[in-house]
Amino acid sequence: MRRRGVFITLEGGEGCGKSTQLNLLAKLLEKQGVPFIATREPGGSQGAELLRDTILFSDVAFSARSEVLLHMAARADHVDQTIRPACEAGKLVLCDRYHHSTIAYQGYGAGEGAADLLKFIEDARRLIAFEPDKTFLLDVPLQVATQRLAKRKGRTDRYEARGAAFHDRVRQGFDKIQEQEPERIERINAGGDADALSHILFRKIMALREGAVE
Ligand code: TMP
Repeated sequence: MRRRGVFITLEGGEGCGKSTQLNLLAKLLEKQGVPFIATREPGGSQGAELLRDTILFSDVAFSARSEVLLHMAARADHVDQTIRPACEAGKLVLCDRYHHSTIAYQGYGAGEGAADLLKFIEDARRLIAFEPDKTFLLDVPLQVATQRLAKRKGRTDRYEARGAAFHDRVRQGFDKIQEQEPERIERINAGGDADALSHILFRKIMALREGAVE
């Protein structure tokens, strides 16, 4: 019997609580002795972390296509150096954001859903050729997200600095993506208690892991 690592991504707009869930899930997995890695995008490998700084914190105005390719370049490095090796070693991989963020933020947020840009993103996605087994889309009411964001400290990045209309398009983008990939993407109500949610996610992830036994 061979077990391949399961690749799970967490997605959602700003303030949806992904990072909190990732931390809570990491604690639950550690406690159960499950071999796993928790990683994030943009970033998750040395090269991708370098690109993260440029993507999020430089004030250069990249063209729409080059911004997509910067995310994809970071992703290719992350997949090759971190995600695929961990999966091949049989580990569970939990990743904070992946392709669906590029579609939502660059495709719908910045690109306002332009068909040629969405196709460009899909073409690049096909080139990366590494898809998650399951994606959890954390969904919170706009009011909750706004409250959480107001409490955030630290540097404001390129996307956080964008206005409400941008973030509204991102949210709507995630909705469309979920409709297009209903099998892969499961919408999760993340507006309630964080601890309770982490246990729900943990059970779902363990079930996926059981199913991955060949
Ligand atoms: P985060 O670490 O708070 O999730 O910040 C990462 C930011 O980068 C967030 O605003 C979403 C954005 N992003 C994109 O715009 N496209 C992408 O492909 C990824 C992975 C992230």
